[in-house]
Amino acid sequence: MASDLSPIDKAKFVAAKQASQYVEDGMKVGLGTGSTAAWLVKCLGERVQEEGLKITGIPTSSRTAALAREVGLDVMSLDEARWLDVTIDGADEYDGNLNLIKGGGGSLLQEKIVATASDQMIVIADASKSVETLGSFPLPIEVVPFGWQTTKVLVEETLIGMDVLGRKVTLRMNGEAPFYTDEGNHILDLHLNRIGNARQLSLVMNQIPGVVENGLFIDICDIVVIGHGDGRVEMRDINQGCIAETRIEFVETENLFADLGD
Ligand code: A5P
Repeated sequence: MASDLSPIDKAKFVAAKQASQYVEDGMKVGLGTGSTAAWLVKCLGERVQEEGLKITGIPTSSRTAALAREVGLDVMSLDEARWLDVTIDGADEYDGNLNLIKGGGGSLLQEKIVATASDQMIVIADASKSVETLGSFPLPIEVVPFGWQTTKVLVEETLIGMDVLGRKVTLRMNGEAPFYTDEGNHILDLHLNRIGNARQLSLVMNQIPGVVENGLFIDICDIVVIGHGDGRVEMRDINQGCIAETRIEFVETENLFADLGD
């Protein structure tokens, strides 16, 4: 039941619900990964069932693909879709320029490819993801398994010359074993505390052999939809330079809240 949701989950839900209204009939929609994006997928499933909305979802992970099918969305690969109208995804951090850290869920590679292949990227988040300067959240970078320990040393050495506050690098684990992404790669988490020049860091990291992609999304996000636990939603549009606010009521529908408490 909606009343059982924590304030953070309510915030994620209202952000997702509001962002689902940006989707129009016939659109090809990039579907992000994570707990906030899961709400979005459910909200879109509800619109498909209740309004007969015809859309195609392009998932950014196997998890999201499974959920999208479960809620009745038509799913297509990026190669089939080629170019998308909009991608809606969560984020681990966003700053005042709508630059992001993503990849907490390990899907940054597909997320960046899909978002970049979209006319518009909309981020949905609760207000706790807002930061003045990126870097409190560890920056994920995806590396190929071959020689990953050498890649890790190269990353550590490269960080010495960068404008960051911390330089600890850890291999992401899944229990006792290294975490594998959908693409069969590992994730290194960079504990930087503060990233002075995110644009430069992103470019430099991607020059290191073995690094496939990093979780900095620079100049990719157009709009951030920020949810609050009391139902308020703010929309910041970086291109229009405007901030709008609305309020979403928690209407409990069987489709959306059926699996809560499982
Ligand atoms: C997935 O790889 C991430 O980029 C997520 O978008 C990010 O971690 C946000 O996840 P939550 O919505 O669960 O906070």
